[in-house]
Amino acid sequence: QSKEANIFFLFGATGDLARRKLYPALYNLYKKQQPFAVIGLARRPHNHQSFRDLVADSIQDFVAQDTDLTDFLDTFYYHPLDVNNLEAFVSLKDLSDKVDRKFNLQGNRVFYLSLAPRLFKQVTGNLKKAGLTHDNGWKRLIIEKPFGHDLESGTELNESLHAVFKESEIYRIDHYLGKEMIQNIQVVRFANPIFESVWNNRYISNIQITLSEQLGVGERASYYDQTGALLDMIQNHMLQLVSLTAMEPPSRFATEDIRDEKVKVLKSLRLFNSDEVKEHVVRGQYEDGTMSNGESVIGYKKEENIDPESKTETYVAARLFIDNYRWAGVPFYIRTGKRLAERSAQITVQFKDVPKNPYFYNFNELSSNLLTIHIQPDEGISLKLNAKRYSQESDTIPVKMKFCNNCEGKPDAATAYERLIEDCINGDSTNFIRWDEVAFSWTFVDAIAKAWREENIPLETYPAGSMGPKASDDLLAKEGFHWWDIS
Ligand code: BG6
Repeated sequence: QSKEANIFFLFGATGDLARRKLYPALYNLYKKQQPFAVIGLARRPHNHQSFRDLVADSIQDFVAQDTDLTDFLDTFYYHPLDVNNLEAFVSLKDLSDKVDRKFNLQGNRVFYLSLAPRLFKQVTGNLKKAGLTHDNGWKRLIIEKPFGHDLESGTELNESLHAVFKESEIYRIDHYLGKEMIQNIQVVRFANPIFESVWNNRYISNIQITLSEQLGVGERASYYDQTGALLDMIQNHMLQLVSLTAMEPPSRFATEDIRDEKVKVLKSLRLFNSDEVKEHVVRGQYEDGTMSNGESVIGYKKEENIDPESKTETYVAARLFIDNYRWAGVPFYIRTGKRLAERSAQITVQFKDVPKNPYFYNFNELSSNLLTIHIQPDEGISLKLNAKRYSQESDTIPVKMKFCNNCEGKPDAATAYERLIEDCINGDSTNFIRWDEVAFSWTFVDAIAKAWREENIPLETYPAGSMGPKASDDLLAKEGFHWWDIS
């Protein structure tokens, strides 16, 4: 793949995401000979050198110790900037022209906004006014969620971006789409006839997707208390996983064809009225508890910077219905939460059982066939089958076949961002979210948020260190199912 030179404008250059993920990702790209220069932008007063020191610390903390970083750091520049100050954008243009000439970057620009979305409009407007969005090269905008807080605000935000960037120039990041095994879902499905031929409501009884975290809200309390798990995880990462799991094979493996198929799934999600929200969606909040390492942790309402009366959910489980030909009648159970027993992301497909046959093996003892895509911490696939117990004529035992891409459970923190930034530089937006995906996701989520706001729907509680409220188990038990272990 040819490498496109560019200037990488990083807004929010002193922030946590930059330090933990973006600098390590840029370093890895630099090691792969990606030509670029970086201009870091933030309000804090830094000069180029103190900024380079900050970047060096990040690389040392997260990727490489004891390495000579001189050449890499020489490509980093800092420009202090208040996003409301047009003059600062004008002087940024001067700096970027100089940097462009020095490194021969051909006028190509990536603008990465690692900022609060309320600032996006101001930033993109000022970029345009200062002449930074037109040059002889290409320009691309990378933005992070949240893309608004509902469909209306998301649409408004989108319109303001479209005043400066075309849809094809906007790269909406969902870092889950950069994860190895999420990129592998389509291969597992479409490259294996033994799976694809049974990937439908005739053979699958239900699908379970878990995104569980052990961490609490940490330092992001004020953001999180305004947001909650529905907006923080379901609207984006979870619905993306649902659409990748349920989509039809695209007619070509081309960006827009793939995105078209994902959108069709999101369009087919059954929208819930308030009664259905009560029946199919569980929200919960963690209380004091003990984590698996024995650590006692405090409940959500006692966390620093959280309103002691907070009704924000830290857990959501739901039964989704995809009303299309392939999936009619197959529940998709999803759950996500903070302070849960395990950190895990996985998709489990439970196949329908064989008909009971009393003359054959002891089929009542049979376990269901399960295909699990392990996204993290392990990265791999496992398949649970039934086999005859060794030398016991009529006994069966479950056997598990597991393929591990990486069983260390330690993917490089920067990998997902590295892949996605590289895709953006190469103009490949397949693993970014198109606007209509965002819009349909909001439509689905807004209906739930509205019912929670307007109806008296309980906020369940669960002890930190558990796998969530009992109501989440009941959701499956009603239909004779249970959550499969995440192992
Ligand atoms: C982010 C959420 O998008 O994803 C966080 O805002 C969450 O609340 C994080 O912790 C989880 O990402 P990962 O890659 O650690 O599973």
